Parts: sequence; C-alpha cells; structure tokens
Amino acid sequence: MKISFHGHSVVKIESNGKTILIDPFITGNSLTDLKAENQNPDFIVLTHGHGDHVGDTVEIAKRSGALVIAVNELALYLQSRGVNAHPMHIGGSREFEFGKIKFTQAFHGSGIQQEDGTFLYMGMPAGVLIMNEGKTVYHAGDTGLFSDMKLIGELHPIDLAFLPIGDNFTMGPEDAALAAEFLQAKTVVPIHYDTFPPIQQNPEDFTSKLKAGNGKVMQPGDITEL
Ligand code: NI
Ligand code: MN
Repeated sequence: MKISFHGHSVVKIESNGKTILIDPFITGNSLTDLKAENQNPDFIVLTHGHGDHVGDTVEIAKRSGALVIAVNELALYLQSRGVNAHPMHIGGSREFEFGKIKFTQAFHGSGIQQEDGTFLYMGMPAGVLIMNEGKTVYHAGDTGLFSDMKLIGELHPIDLAFLPIGDNFTMGPEDAALAAEFLQAKTVVPIHYDTFPPIQQNPEDFTSKLKAGNGKVMQPGDITEL
C-alpha cells in the first residue's frame, strides 16, 4: 500500500491498483496540496458527515464515478444527492477491490447544517481500518480518546495510524499520545491540526510525547509505503 497525507484529515491510499481518498476536504482546505478537479479515485471513504470531511465528495464522486463508502445514514444521504454510495456501519467489514475495510467507533458528532439552520443527522461518526496484503492502516476520523482503542489494536495489529491532535473538536496532543499507546500502532501520524485557529498545534510536541518514539509528522504530499 502507498499512503499519502494531504492536510487536515485527507489521506490517499493506493492499494491493489485502486485509489482510495479518505475525507476529501480539498476546496477551502488551506493546507492541502491537492486540487479537487484533478482527483479521480476509485473509492471515497468518509469517517463522518461534517463539512471538513465530506468536503468535495459529491463533485469528485459524480465526475469520477468513485464509489463512496460511509455509514448508512451518510451513504443514503449521498445517494439522494446522486452519488454512488455503499452503506456500512460500525463493527462491519467488507471486501472491496482495494482490500478490506472495517468501520470502528468514534466519539464525535455527525451532521450537515442546512440553509435554514436545521441539522440533518448523518448517523454515528466512525473511524476506519483499511487492510490489504497483511498491512493495516487506521484512520481515526474525528474522535475523543476512548479505551476501546486497546481492543482495536489487539484485534487488528496496526502498521500506520492517523490520529487527530487538534484539540477543541477532537483529542488534543496529550490524549492522542495515550491513544497511540492504546493502539500499539507501529507508526503514528498526527492529523486534524492547524487548518483552523481553534486547532493550532505543534505536531512535534505530539510526537515528542510518544514514549515508543513511533511518531511521524507527514507534510501535505508526503508518501509512506507499507
Ligand atoms: Ni468532525
Ligand atoms: Mn473535523
């Protein structure tokens, strides 16, 4: 698997000759190196329904024909917007052409605010495990710390984990460092920071807190191979 980070929570994975975009928030993302109009993924995976994660999904999926994989409520909403979407839910796993995906719990919100101010509920927020060729990538989505991260790591030995560190909306650096310990991932990459004023962080402060010394700061465009 070839994995690249693209600012905020945007991660791209190439696996089995297929391209997967996770949480493609590109338009309005001041940190990203991507352009939405250049993206032609085979799959889009969404962790939850907030704008800084759904991002350019509708435009990219309609143009490229990508299959969007998300929890049921979000997937059905996207279907109503004319997108090809596959609904799943927390605890569920399924094989696709790129490998296997499993949705895990996350403690956060998920909804889309309409023009009249009311919210459309988008189901539970999630994290995802993506597995292929004996390698496992975990994208935690937006979440607070929870001790069942120990179980996630026990059941699925993780090679690479993307964890939010921005604080305010998600775990901050201290809780994320504990999450990294719980998960026992081989390598941990901080995400979801610096994009907006309330989530300014120094990612090196996070990696310096990791007792296992397994933190890796990826700049937008950086690639890791597993
Ligand atoms: Ni969110
Ligand atoms: Mn977010």
